Amino acid sequence: MSTLAESAVTVPVATPGGHYDILIGSGLLQRADSWAGLPRAAQAVIVSNPTVDALHGAALRAALAPHYAQLSQVNLPDGEVHKDWTTLNRIFDHLLAHGCDRKTVLFALGGGVVGDMTGFAAATYMRGVPFVQVPTTLLAQVDSSVGGKTAVNHPLGKNMIGAFYQPQRVVCDLDTLATLPQRELSAGLAEVIKYGPIADAAFLDWIDAELPALVARDPAALARAVQRSCEIKAEVVGQDERESGLRAILNFGHTFGHAIEAGLGYGQWLHGEAVGCGMVMAAELSVQLGLVRPEFVARIARIVAAAGLPVRGPALGTARYMELMRVDKKAEGGEIRFVVIEAPGRAAVRAAPDAVVARVLQQHCDPA
Ligand code: NAD
Ligand code: GLY
Repeated sequence: MSTLAESAVTVPVATPGGHYDILIGSGLLQRADSWAGLPRAAQAVIVSNPTVDALHGAALRAALAPHYAQLSQVNLPDGEVHKDWTTLNRIFDHLLAHGCDRKTVLFALGGGVVGDMTGFAAATYMRGVPFVQVPTTLLAQVDSSVGGKTAVNHPLGKNMIGAFYQPQRVVCDLDTLATLPQRELSAGLAEVIKYGPIADAAFLDWIDAELPALVARDPAALARAVQRSCEIKAEVVGQDERESGLRAILNFGHTFGHAIEAGLGYGQWLHGEAVGCGMVMAAELSVQLGLVRPEFVARIARIVAAAGLPVRGPALGTARYMELMRVDKKAEGGEIRFVVIEAPGRAAVRAAPDAVVARVLQQHCDPA
């Protein structure tokens, strides 16, 4: 990691699919060096949504205007419920209507929904055009903008249609987090919390101690959380870009969480809320499999609750949970596989007997 300037840091990401930097700091949207050295092109297209555009669109347009002769923008409808093929087509419609060529650079300005869809559009438009992630939610800054997973949802499963496609750069302007609703900040904290149990016990201790500061948006605490999260994610995706093994640990809590999101209907619970609650269930599963001590569940539940996230799953019913989890991308031959914790800071992917999973669901979800 090197210093970009006093108030900004650079975390490098090195994958077979591309080497790039994550820039983290305050005021990065306005700073000229955030945008220097990107692929040159006549055209650039900002992809955003009306909410983020109203707050941060003008700053990005002003920053990019000197670099591109033609700069246009397409706003997608806001929300997880719109992360689908129909909305994706709006990006392609815009690119084709504006005569965008293979060099056109796409800029994803928004949270994980905008980022994942822009990335997928960039991966597939003319078989691939460059794109830059400009994440504006905590969740997107600590997770979704890094590592090149791009996707849209299918009614039968979350993020089921997508591609691995790395951005040219990730620009995390911490100032954008000031406008984030508190519920969204909490959702982002779920993905911050996950890095502790899976990869860094000391970071889990730090999160535990600093949660009040994080919830209160203390700038130094948020900067540290974004930086350490990005360092861990860069390390993991650098070793396993396409999730042939290690990368799956980034899905701690997600098997249960994705079932909650799909089961309730996308957008009912935020992704981070479902993951927070899912981590409590995955911790319980780790206990039930004899891997960690029972106190670990209480600790994760306390941390998740302190972040402002739900700790009990909704009443989908055990059978429905199991059905939904069987379409998880980690499932093999119909067998559900979970990220479990072997010790704080160390994770593994394991299958678990249905009866044990059912017991976890019964203990940690509201009765149907
Ligand atoms: P989101 O993109 O829906 O953003 C949350 C809400 O905050 C939206 O209403 C958005 O308009 C608003 N918003 C964004 N920035 C704002 C700002 N600065 N101020 C005020 N409002 C702002 O949700 P998210 O939590 O950012 O992302 C969730 C998505 O990310 C899910 O679809 C999930 O599957 C995906 N994801 C992807 C990866 C990956 O590796 N690609 C990892 C984790 C999550
Ligand atoms: N968020 C999980 C991953 O990037 O692999």
